[in-house]
Amino acid sequence: ALERTFSIIKPDATERNLTGAINAVIEKASLRIVAQKRILLTRAQAEQFYAVHSARPFFGELVDFMISGPVVVQVLEGEDAIATYREVMGATNPENAAEGTIRKLFAKSVGENSVHGSDSPEAAQVEIAQFFAGNEIVG
Ligand code: CMP
Repeated sequence: ALERTFSIIKPDATERNLTGAINAVIEKASLRIVAQKRILLTRAQAEQFYAVHSARPFFGELVDFMISGPVVVQVLEGEDAIATYREVMGATNPENAAEGTIRKLFAKSVGENSVHGSDSPEAAQVEIAQFFAGNEIVG
């Protein structure tokens, strides 16, 4: 089915000027970037976004990293966009990511792993709504 997913190009990637290279991989996978903006997350935004991970030992490090530089938040649209984008991203840990995936190509470590993508339709809806108004998404 036609779906939308939420994506973040993370600070390790924006710092290395990889936004366009990552967008090229996204578009080559037939996902359409239907909304996009470059922002600095506030600590409160990052904590809210990653609230499900708040009990994890890496939570503090994760939030510090996500506010350490600009991010690009995006809405991607396409057939089975959620699963498609997870395939395109590759495994969370770049050491386990398949050839040609964004994380294999660009990620530095499990923490600095260049991109985030929603893991379910429910998550996609919540994550998109945290960053985009309906009229900012143009399909
Ligand atoms: P993401 O898909 O954005 O969702 C949660 C993030 O936590 C994940 O990507 C990783 O970047 C990060 N993460 C997972 N495991 C670790 C870890 N062991 N150390 C640091 N960050 C981690």
